[in-house]
Amino acid sequence: MKVLVVGAGGREHALASKLNQSTIIDQVFVIPGNEAMRNVAEVHDEIAESDHQGILKFAKQNDIDWVVIGPEQPLIDGLADVLRKEQIKVFGPGKDAAQIEGSKLFAKQLMEKYHIPTAEYREVSNRSVAINYVESCELPVVIKKDGLAAGKGVIIAKSREEAIEGVKAVYPNEEGKVVFERFLEGEEFSLMTFVNGDYAVPFDCIAQDHKRAYDNDEGPNTGGMGAYCPVSHIDKEVLRQTNEQIAQPIAKAMAQEGHEFFGLLYIGAILTKEGPKVIEFNARFGDPEAQVLLTRLDSDLMEHIIALDEQNSIHFEWKDEVVVGVMLASKGYPGNYSKGHEVSGFKLESGYFVSGLKKDGEHFVNSGGRVILAIGEGTTVKEAQKVAYENAQRIKCDNLFYRNDIGDKAIKI
Ligand code: AMP
Ligand code: GLY
Repeated sequence: MKVLVVGAGGREHALASKLNQSTIIDQVFVIPGNEAMRNVAEVHDEIAESDHQGILKFAKQNDIDWVVIGPEQPLIDGLADVLRKEQIKVFGPGKDAAQIEGSKLFAKQLMEKYHIPTAEYREVSNRSVAINYVESCELPVVIKKDGLAAGKGVIIAKSREEAIEGVKAVYPNEEGKVVFERFLEGEEFSLMTFVNGDYAVPFDCIAQDHKRAYDNDEGPNTGGMGAYCPVSHIDKEVLRQTNEQIAQPIAKAMAQEGHEFFGLLYIGAILTKEGPKVIEFNARFGDPEAQVLLTRLDSDLMEHIIALDEQNSIHFEWKDEVVVGVMLASKGYPGNYSKGHEVSGFKLESGYFVSGLKKDGEHFVNSGGRVILAIGEGTTVKEAQKVAYENAQRIKCDNLFYRNDIGDKAIKI
């Protein structure tokens, strides 16, 4: 079997590595991929992720059996539809179902209609109304732009001034949709769920991301600064509730409304006093959650994808270990940062997943905000953390930073 992975980040590096281990796959290809993926896949960086016709042509010419789409943008732009129309199998939803990630409002309205637990919200579609609203709303208030923002479009305003500043920041002009949400308190976790129409099978291993840029969850929101799994202090009962109250009903709601979803639904949840509630849905694997989960997954990812396609039962098997991933990001991320700084000291065979590195002659240089995830495996969180930080420290570059507390939540409890 031949499989094509679409995407260029650390999540796709992990997907290509994991699929390369499958006993039923002969060859893995990746478009556009990155330099670090050459050990696990045939990299085709001459084709752009946004070039849907180019990807279709490649898939046909190379008799690709399955295409696995990693990032949200090609999903939201309808790449899966283009491929499916030509009878190519795709793991990833079409444009219509990907709205669950692409539009906060779409997700909120669906959750409201089907009584899926989430923060109360209010939709506002112009700046003056938004300013009026924050002048008297309950604080803190969460302000979300409707549309994709790579985890960076959310403002949590604790004071009236911050809320007004926040509205001004999300409204460069008078028009535009914004969702205000009630601020929820609790611990966040990520649950990846395989979905085919109304058939939903969540991973029986939760992961936890670290969204804020700096230690102790301070600083701005990012795409994710590190992750670990399993999250043992969030117990099986929470997993059961999340499945029963969120995963199953959202799959059924999507199917009922005619938004057939096939692929991976990411449930970003928060464990409040009233139980788990949805913070966000994504239409694809989390990054860096995928890197730690796929490292821990013992069973064959491709076999699971095929079982999902046939709506057969799926039994994920996990290594008896903890996996911690620490993200090294360019200084200044998620704001402005400079590129082209030499990065060395890492191995490509194991211990790292690459997000934002490119070759510059003989050397690697940083080419993105999030650059490389250092992985640690161990029998306890402490052990895995120690290895992950040793791997992080091996990396030499004068322009990277990382958080020092990835996985601490699991130790403090
Ligand atoms: P989102 O892009 O919707 O995932 O939001 C990014 C981050 O903002 C989340 O991971 C949370 O840390 C925080 N956040 C979003 N919505 C809420 C909410 N209603 N209450 C508390 N925190 C939130
Ligand atoms: N790590 C969060 C996300 O992938 O959206």
